[in-house]
Amino acid sequence: MEMTEQELRERVRELAPFHHAVELPHGVNTHVPDMAHRGVERTRVNTLMHHGWPQLLAAYGGSLKGLRVLDVACNCGGFSVEAIKAGADYVLGIDIVDRYLDQAEFIREALDYDNLEFRNIDVADLAPDTVGMFDVVLCFGILYHLEDPVRGMKAMSNITKRAMLVDSNLMRPKYGSRFIRNRSLWKMDVVGVGEVISESTNLWRQGSSCQFAPTERAVLDLLGFLGFAKVEFLPPVEKDLESRYYRRERGTFLAVR
Ligand SMILES: C[S@@+](CC[C@H](N)C(=O)[O-])C[C@H]1O[C@@H](n2cnc3c(N)ncnc32)[C@H](O)[C@@H]1O
Repeated sequence: MEMTEQELRERVRELAPFHHAVELPHGVNTHVPDMAHRGVERTRVNTLMHHGWPQLLAAYGGSLKGLRVLDVACNCGGFSVEAIKAGADYVLGIDIVDRYLDQAEFIREALDYDNLEFRNIDVADLAPDTVGMFDVVLCFGILYHLEDPVRGMKAMSNITKRAMLVDSNLMRPKYGSRFIRNRSLWKMDVVGVGEVISESTNLWRQGSSCQFAPTERAVLDLLGFLGFAKVEFLPPVEKDLESRYYRRERGTFLAVR
């Protein structure tokens, strides 16, 4: 049953803060300024809609019509919603935090999409016989969180028929950045028990862990190793993206079979 504007607003406040600003019916938005945690919540989806997304759509002649799309580490599902809007036949968003999946499910219900599904699945468990194959895989904001990034990316690659769009934090040294950027290197951070390195990470991490931030070259080499024939770093050309993209602390890559 369609939710009224008041019901939507109440539910948004119950579930806030959302990591993605998503437009819902009756002019309601999941971004509630007085409940937001971080500025990025307002800009996240919009940034990638102007950077990375146009190149992905161009690879498919302007739309995702008729395609199966997997949104890995979907959080509250802002990119899954964009894939539906771009014409995808079916979109699956996966994440391991129930709070995010509850938010995603609320958004799905509010928008009344029946070809969108959210499931609690770990990247490590992605395989053709658990989730099937996907024409497009969105790998946003997860590579640098993985303790075993090569294995995780292999799992994603094994279910990718054609294209993967990757958006990741990058290793950005203080000195010699151009020299480092052009080499295949990873920076390892050991995160101790109870240590906070990012708010979102601490929602699913228990105990200590290792995280690896790649250079641009390392992401390109890894995607090549996974069998993608055409792999490119997408330079930030649009104005008004999140500033971390211009500083090359964050990067977006398109890999096509
Ligand atoms: C930084 S957020 C990125 C969210 C979204 N993809 C984006 O780019 O805005 C990282 C997400 O990865 C999810 N996550 C972390 N480890 C995961 C794993 N092993 N499998 C699936 N999701 C995971 C977290 O719950 C969180 O929603």
